[in-house]
Amino acid sequence: MTIEWRPQDGQFHLSNGRISLVLRVYEDGSLGQIHLGAPLPKGRTYRHLGPDPFDGFSNRVGDPVPFAYPTPGTGDFRVPALVAAGPDGATALALRYREHRIMAGKPSLDPLPATYCDVDDEAQTLVVTLVDDPTGLEVDLRTTIFAERPLVALSATIRAGSVPMDLRTAMSVSVDLPDADWTMIGLAGAWAREAHVVERVLAPGRQSVSSTRGISGAQHNPFLALRRPSADDARGEVFGFSLVYSGNSLAEAEVEPFGTTRVRLGIEPDTFGWHLGQGESFTTPEAIVVHSTDGLGGLSDALHDLFRDRLARGAWRDRPRPVLLNNWEGTYYDFDADRLVAMALSARDLGVELFVLDDGWFGHRDDDTTSLGDWVVDRRKLPDGLGDVASRITGLGMGFGMWIEPEMVSSDSDLFRAHPDWAIGIPDRPRTESRHQLVLDMGRPEVVDHLATVLNDVLGSAPISYVKWDMNRYVTEPFGPTLRPDRQGEFFHRYILGVYELYRRLTTRFPAILFESCASGGGRFDPGMLAFAPQAWTSDDTDAIERLRSQWGTSLAYPLSSMAAHVSAVPNHQTGRITPLATRAAVAFFGVLGYELDPTMIGAADRTEIAEQVAFYVRHREVLQRGRFVRLESPFSGERDHVSWMALSPDRATAIIGVYQILNRPAPEARRLRLRGLEPTAVYRVSGWPVSDDSMIAANTGPRTGAELMAAGLVLDRERHYAATLGDFWARVFVLERVESDQA
Ligand code: DGJ
Repeated sequence: MTIEWRPQDGQFHLSNGRISLVLRVYEDGSLGQIHLGAPLPKGRTYRHLGPDPFDGFSNRVGDPVPFAYPTPGTGDFRVPALVAAGPDGATALALRYREHRIMAGKPSLDPLPATYCDVDDEAQTLVVTLVDDPTGLEVDLRTTIFAERPLVALSATIRAGSVPMDLRTAMSVSVDLPDADWTMIGLAGAWAREAHVVERVLAPGRQSVSSTRGISGAQHNPFLALRRPSADDARGEVFGFSLVYSGNSLAEAEVEPFGTTRVRLGIEPDTFGWHLGQGESFTTPEAIVVHSTDGLGGLSDALHDLFRDRLARGAWRDRPRPVLLNNWEGTYYDFDADRLVAMALSARDLGVELFVLDDGWFGHRDDDTTSLGDWVVDRRKLPDGLGDVASRITGLGMGFGMWIEPEMVSSDSDLFRAHPDWAIGIPDRPRTESRHQLVLDMGRPEVVDHLATVLNDVLGSAPISYVKWDMNRYVTEPFGPTLRPDRQGEFFHRYILGVYELYRRLTTRFPAILFESCASGGGRFDPGMLAFAPQAWTSDDTDAIERLRSQWGTSLAYPLSSMAAHVSAVPNHQTGRITPLATRAAVAFFGVLGYELDPTMIGAADRTEIAEQVAFYVRHREVLQRGRFVRLESPFSGERDHVSWMALSPDRATAIIGVYQILNRPAPEARRLRLRGLEPTAVYRVSGWPVSDDSMIAANTGPRTGAELMAAGLVLDRERHYAATLGDFWARVFVLERVESDQA
């Protein structure tokens, strides 16, 4: 990994053999971005890739000159990275190179979450300072390149000079690509159907996904990918853009009239503004840009490794995550201490390692109309307190975890009665109701201080090893009564900084607790959250078939270790669908497994099956949580009734393959499933789960070479009439274990 500076060419070349970024200081001092993508040889000039000597736009206004951090008012009409108005209201900025620094490692973006290095020689960072002479506005463009990773991490710090400036747009990254032959991919959805893969062919003009709801949201993940039309999961050129941020975001691609593409990613500009007094600065969230020549799979590998190992942090980063039982779908609000302990005991006997007490343990909360904000145990349900129920459960040899929703307040709560002004809203205007709850103004330090104090008490009051931090409504009337009128645009960003501050205090005070983030399911499944909570609740939808889609889509950007996946009762509470217990487990295995049902209510046969599921998962947990995830057959394209994927250990010695059929078919077509990523010369012993005498599993059981499994594949169509025995929604799991020889 190197960052070369060639003063004679005004050229920076960041490279590591997997990706290259070439920047050039043009003749007028502006900073160009003349290559981003596949690695280029070091020690060479690439000036010729940029425009002929470029001294501004005179007589060629609107040319697609590639810029590193474009601004308006220069002759570039494409979407800008930075818009800032000076005291006269003018927004033209002419950013010119002033100086640069190259440093080992990666500076922190505190208070923003960001990727990091364990040791400085893992990465190098280039900081280029640009200045707009008339206003004195400075921009530090920060780009980090890591050894071995096909990606760069970027952010910008914008500093006012001697005159105040109003930021209107401050993107984290802008990338200029020399053509537009791309298909754009986003992760779109809604509550209970998060992260569905949506594709569109780029067309002239702007195409974007965004959030204006105060959090990243279930509607559009802060993620965008571009793939060549011929690229797929296994092969081809792909770019990925991911924002380490949990607030409003925008990801946008613009194709201009000459057929080049600009991609920008950052805080959503329509709901953003930031006032910079003299000398004050603003730092953007971090953006990650990945370039892969190994298709979407290569993009996912790069993001998974980075997010799992150098974004997540703390005691739980590298530790196996416990199999849990969450009481939510089992009891909702209807429980008492004895019922919880009985559920925990019943789950413990199935091999479950952690019991999680969800919503309803505080205030007088028997439904969702009351008590948020009153983080005091409900003695009607838990007469001897949280410490008592937690100790009874930890006494069974399990961990104890609990649910909180710190950012919320019910209008029927002591907190709201004491501090009605802490709830977000605009004086003398109605508030929009959602789930009977209001959002606390996390941008106010006194709110964060209060929550830190109260939650310190709660988390310190019992042996708690896990916390699920929920967030169940969007922000509808953004207004900060403590902000000046010209600073109201800062509201949303200040909100999320307050959330990060509270997370920071609680994770620092309770370093042994495993945090899981949640926002009505996957509504805030984003890289910003992963910096504090290494796992997230992927979706409230626990239906196995729906989960195929949400887990597939989520896996484009996020590692298995971050995806909480639960088995629940049937008929499913979100879809009413009845799926086999084995299928529910076969889907939930690929992530962090949990159960969300009342184990005291299930029959002996299901209990035996669940105990076997937990044992299977624990045996293969390392691969299923930390293995490489390889997507094989998509629920979003082609034959949509067939879905399959696999997890592979880093040494390629073990692989677990999940094969799923949505609707069953008579007289099934021929079906072979070619695997990927195996060691071609290795011999693998193939076995199946759950039914060892099943003919589909039996047909594949035995020693097979990696070469055969990748070239010919597993055989999934045995006898034509066998299909009638399968029914809808079946799943099979295959286990591959490397052995020394065919005889082993
Ligand atoms: C939404 C979450 O996604 C659910 O899992 C559950 O915790 C409820 N909130 C509780 O109110």
